[in-house]
Amino acid sequence: MVLNMSELHFNKEKGCQIKLFTPGPVQVPERVLKDLAKPNNTHRSKPYFEMHQMATEGLQKVLFTKNECLLFTSSATGIMEACVRNLVKDDEKVLFFSIGAFGDRWYEIGEANGKISIKEGVEWGGAITPEFIHEVMEKDKYPVVCIQANETSTGVYNPIEQLAPVIKDYGSLLCVDATSSMAGVKIEVDKLNIDVCLASVQKCFALPPGLSVCSISQAAIDKTSEVKNRGHYFDFETLLKSNKTHQTPTTPPIPQIRGLVTQLDYMLKEEGLERRFERHTQLGKRTRIWARDMNLEMFPIKEEYCSNTVSTMKNSHNIDIAKMVETLRERGYGIVNGYGGLKNKTFRIGHMGEITINELEEMLKVLTDIIVELRS
Ligand SMILES: Cc1ncc(COP(=O)(O)O)c(C=O)c1O
Repeated sequence: MVLNMSELHFNKEKGCQIKLFTPGPVQVPERVLKDLAKPNNTHRSKPYFEMHQMATEGLQKVLFTKNECLLFTSSATGIMEACVRNLVKDDEKVLFFSIGAFGDRWYEIGEANGKISIKEGVEWGGAITPEFIHEVMEKDKYPVVCIQANETSTGVYNPIEQLAPVIKDYGSLLCVDATSSMAGVKIEVDKLNIDVCLASVQKCFALPPGLSVCSISQAAIDKTSEVKNRGHYFDFETLLKSNKTHQTPTTPPIPQIRGLVTQLDYMLKEEGLERRFERHTQLGKRTRIWARDMNLEMFPIKEEYCSNTVSTMKNSHNIDIAKMVETLRERGYGIVNGYGGLKNKTFRIGHMGEITINELEEMLKVLTDIIVELRS
């Protein structure tokens, strides 16, 4: 019997029946689901303060930073908007380096907030290079620069460890969207002098959506105090004030924060960060080898640009991608079509969170059969 999508997703008795290889939200491990179901105390109680502190201190370790870390009751887009509202004065230019849909989104957020927003990018499939940064930043003064680490639409990883020092040499505040890389790829915030490094937790943290996190530097905190009309809900100053006593200004998603602590504990004490990063590297490599063996061209223009958390492949065999995704779902696995304008021209396999190499192999075997069936 073939179940329809809603039954597969929301089976009332059994919950989700498919294994997700998606670029977020991703598969949430059982141990986290169990912790999410535990009884809550209020967010103005000592147990909550302790939990909040564990979350922010754990994040500092994952990001290799002494900078304060904040918890937001929103997805990552909320912090992207917060960066624009808190750090950019009305008469200043904010520069968005875009290599895909999420870079474009950040620029649109700048525009929507009435900031003088400049977008500079390269052809989709490409990455920002130090040379490109020089070319752009020599032209004008940009007090704030925003850039993706991993661009989830194209499956390109911007080499942030090379780019951050170049941007910082121009004296700008640097905001990095690490939504689909934080906790899966090493990002050393203090070494790279990143002012805001942000992500939501439904990707490499392998948690359900509804919570996002960031680190914030003293320079960014100082700048915030000079900016007017920062709004209320995402005001960094208000959030920082509450964070001092391990709280949020408004009611946070308490179960998700408990889940975050569970995951941080697992990453830091059981798997180990270096092993976690290495597992993601291997997942990326294995997927690219599979794509090569299947004669599927990667969407990123160069091998070195390819992401280790999400692979975007071209529809090289011109098959019905929607049918491929649906057939795979019926056989127990979730992958996704291309993003936005890349729909049907590409498809994406997410390999982030808690996925193991063996699980990836199993899914790829089933996907191989389906591609062969659809080609014949
Ligand atoms: C790179 C990147 N930035 C931002 C976002 C937006 O994140 P959210 O949906 O958590 O707001 C996403 C979501 O997929 C993303 O991949």
